[in-house]
Amino acid sequence: MGYQTLLFEIKDAIATITINRPDKLNALNDQVVDELAHAAERIASEDAIKGAILTGAGTKAFVAGADIGDLAKQGPFDGKARALRGQAMLRRLETCGKPVIAAVNGYALGGGCELAMACHLPEVKLGIAPGYGGTQRLPRIVGKGNALYLILTAEMIDAPEAYRIGLVNKVVPAGELLATTETIVRGILSMGPLAVRLALEAVDQGLEMTLEEGLLLEANHFGLLAATRDMKEGLTAFLEKRAPRFEGR
Ligand code: COA
Repeated sequence: MGYQTLLFEIKDAIATITINRPDKLNALNDQVVDELAHAAERIASEDAIKGAILTGAGTKAFVAGADIGDLAKQGPFDGKARALRGQAMLRRLETCGKPVIAAVNGYALGGGCELAMACHLPEVKLGIAPGYGGTQRLPRIVGKGNALYLILTAEMIDAPEAYRIGLVNKVVPAGELLATTETIVRGILSMGPLAVRLALEAVDQGLEMTLEEGLLLEANHFGLLAATRDMKEGLTAFLEKRAPRFEGR
């Protein structure tokens, strides 16, 4: 699939996906969502891709929300279908089994925040509520109080405040954003890939389980890893005081 709204580049096993509608502040129209769904599937299924970075074109915005032009035309049934398509795309990204990091290079509003979970949600100002998972993921990340405050007031917050409430992991100068993100992805990729995959899965699924169930899932993963060559290699490398050479097996 040739993309019209995304740039998709693979360099040294990291896919960088740039949402490329800078004149519309990278707003998510249906085509962007469809192309992101395709890109998410590629990240999940292509062995040549080990991790991904998601960012926006231009200097102003990561993604300034769902495309308000599309939303203005929707009725109840296509509105629901649009929310379900967006949710499925985000869920595919979330469960692709590889690290995906948002390099939030500017406004991350509404659907952009839902994409990155990195800024604020102005939908109530427009008379709509979040539709791409914002009411569900935001409280899981920043807690119920912070989430309700952001969703109900539609207040725009800056990067330091997003950092303070735990919505973003790191704040860096704009010029260092992509390089810093790449360093983080490379650091993750130097770990055992099977351990990374199972840790992603345990955190994602464990959040929806009781503590007992989550602990059992974790113990099962721990046991499963003991059957891998990577675990033996990681432990042997430590004892031999050398860097591990993981194979993903
Ligand atoms: N959907 C569609 N188009 C959008 C958009 C969106 N969510 N956000 C910005 N744009 C478009 C603008 O309409 C404008 O297009 P035009 O040049 O053809 O008129 C272009 O992007 C630039 O935006 P502009 O508003 O002129 O930039 P600004 O610097 O003055 O303001 C924002 C930036 C982000 C504060 C402002 O664009 C904004 O509030 N956008 C909507 C944010 C929002 O409510 N998102 C949630 C939607 S669910």
